[in-house]
Amino acid sequence: MNRKRLLLLNGSPRKAKTSYVFARTIKHLAEKKGHKAEIIHIIEYFDEEKHFDALKDIILPQDILGLITPLYVDTLPYPVIWFLEKLSCDLAGELKGKEFFAVAQCGFPDADLLHPLLESCRYFAKAVEMRWLGGLGYGGGALIDGTPLEKLGRKGKKIISAFTSALDDIVEGKNISPSAQGLLTAKIPKILYRPLAAFLNYRKKREAYLQGVSDADLTRKTYLENYKL
Ligand SMILES: Cc1cc2nc3c(=O)[nH]c(=O)nc-3n(C[C@H](O)[C@H](O)[C@H](O)COP(=O)(O)O)c2cc1C
Repeated sequence: MNRKRLLLLNGSPRKAKTSYVFARTIKHLAEKKGHKAEIIHIIEYFDEEKHFDALKDIILPQDILGLITPLYVDTLPYPVIWFLEKLSCDLAGELKGKEFFAVAQCGFPDADLLHPLLESCRYFAKAVEMRWLGGLGYGGGALIDGTPLEKLGRKGKKIISAFTSALDDIVEGKNISPSAQGLLTAKIPKILYRPLAAFLNYRKKREAYLQGVSDADLTRKTYLENYKL
């Protein structure tokens, strides 16, 4: 067997939440198949807790890089954008030939919201001449909120089997098959979508109020303030 080395990049600033539990599961599955896998947290490099320069020694021996990230305001979280830009500048030419995949997840149940983010990841791979193996999207990550997948019953089992199927392709250097995305896509009746979205919005607002955010803050359009024609 061709043993591969995988580096999983956790794109969430919240180091132990849903992106991390996804990365942790992918790591365990890869190790069970006899491959080597490790996880790094992008936020530690963004916050300068760890030196970006030291990353070169971690990244260069890897065969496969995988980004596991939440969706922030319909795109990648800024620390992830910063990190990918830094990789493309500082390791220009040295990522060529490695393989890259992404797993994205968002708060709302509709995984189609993740398509632009995954397209940005495909574009990044192309720009640094890595081979794009494809991306997976999971809608409803906010409800998981860092709960280990093993504790999620049927839902967790389906996500684990989607990752198992995707990994079979990834370690063979094949494009992730659409059936993995099929397993990851929860079929929510259309009629439930609005009440669920309202519930998720309510939860987020409540969390914001607890952090001292006011209604005025939530509706502020800072980009229009001090705007003069
Ligand atoms: C600043 C911010 C922006 C977000 N923007 C979106 C969004 O545009 N669409 C969406 O469905 N979820 C959005 N979410 C929800 C997160 O994608 C979701 O809660 C995710 O599961 C968080 O991942 P984590 O647990 O790994 O941090 C946002 C969350 C935050 C904190």
